[in-house]
Amino acid sequence: MRRATCPGSFDPVTNGHLDIIARSSSIYDEVVVAVGVNKSKARLFDTAERIELISAATQDLPNVRVEPFEGLIVDFCRARDIPVIVKGLRAISDFDYELQMAQMNHSLAGVETLFMHTNPLYSFLSSSLVKEVATWGGDVSHLVPPIVQERLRQRLVR
Ligand code: PNS
Repeated sequence: MRRATCPGSFDPVTNGHLDIIARSSSIYDEVVVAVGVNKSKARLFDTAERIELISAATQDLPNVRVEPFEGLIVDFCRARDIPVIVKGLRAISDFDYELQMAQMNHSLAGVETLFMHTNPLYSFLSSSLVKEVATWGGDVSHLVPPIVQERLRQRLVR
């Protein structure tokens, strides 16, 4: 079975993330979305909620599952026999840090990283910008799935 993981913070998941997850799921037999649990980082949505939102938004993709991870992504991969990390690249500005992480992960455990270009529709999109726009009541309906839009509205708009 060919497995891959799509790791990230997903605070919250956007249509850009979902595009990468869906395209990965058409290439691999199984895709595990790994949701980072970093207790030192302030999040808008806690881990359970981020997992709930991704699970809801990927329910039509039967070969995708969602799991939390804490610590090194290579340990997550090793424990599940996952040889490949898929990362979306929006622009060249993403590349420097992603390349460093990819090379580090390969040196630690031989885990490969494949970079997938982002759909140009979403090349400007980030979870942080979505939160900023939603905080001020801006329309994010074309940027996130409806369940995320609703949850942002409940959480942010006063
Ligand atoms: O959504 P993000 O913030 O781009 O996600 C980054 C994430 C969580 C995928 C990345 O920081 C990560 O893999 N963290 C786990 C810690 C780790 O393995 N660090 C070594 C990689 S060089």
